[in-house]
Amino acid sequence: MNRIFGSNTRLLSLKRTNHRRSSTCIIESMKWRRAVKGFGSDKVNIETILQAIQHAPSSFGLQPYKIINVSSSSLLEALSPDSITYDNGEKIKQASNLLVFTARDDAKNVIDEFAKVSNTPEENIKSIRGMIETLPQQVFIDWSKQQVNVALGFALASAAHNRIPSCPMGGYDPDQVKTILKLDDNLHIAALMAIGSEPAILPPFPQFRHELDHLIVNM
Ligand SMILES: Cc1cc2nc3c(=O)[nH]c(=O)nc-3n(C[C@H](O)[C@H](O)[C@H](O)COP(=O)(O)O)c2cc1C
Repeated sequence: MNRIFGSNTRLLSLKRTNHRRSSTCIIESMKWRRAVKGFGSDKVNIETILQAIQHAPSSFGLQPYKIINVSSSSLLEALSPDSITYDNGEKIKQASNLLVFTARDDAKNVIDEFAKVSNTPEENIKSIRGMIETLPQQVFIDWSKQQVNVALGFALASAAHNRIPSCPMGGYDPDQVKTILKLDDNLHIAALMAIGSEPAILPPFPQFRHELDHLIVNM
């Protein structure tokens, strides 16, 4: 990594902005967020959620993914049968938008596109190609899914920050979702995120989190 970015890194000044937000603010948003089970009928403006996805970090900045934004009621309805999205169907039908987080498998195209628009020096692109283009395809797909899950986290955080109800979902049949949305063969679904309006239906159980000393191992 240092070999690629070490020579031209700059130190970011922590003082570059005066916008020092209260550290409790983001935690209040995190606590507000629930994986909701249903939505109201209004459409929601998801622009800030999409921008959060755009600004999520990814390895080398390659962004080896596509996020499909489904807002067509007929497509949401088509995705809702139990045989396709299990017990997530009702909230998908009620959602304003369904984001489908997909990982790409076409490593060469991902790097070519990045090289064309990112102003990254050719020697760095060469090193990235050496490391990434040579990965076996399934390893590249798993790696891309890891990246797009970070974008999912950013999207969930952004929704919470803007008090927009949402639900991340791993319960779906990827082949059927792909077929209904006519997704390109090079896309592999990693997760879904339903977004909708209030009144949202809260889960029928209280929010639980382990204590920090259970989760964090200090060394
Ligand atoms: C990767 C992932 C997959 C999930 N899959 C589903 C799902 O298919 N359906 C659902 O209703 N909730 C799903 N959830 C939501 C979790 O059940 C929920 O986050 C957890 O119970 C904690 O509740 P909270 O998010 O309300 O705090 C998923 C969450 C994650 C992060």
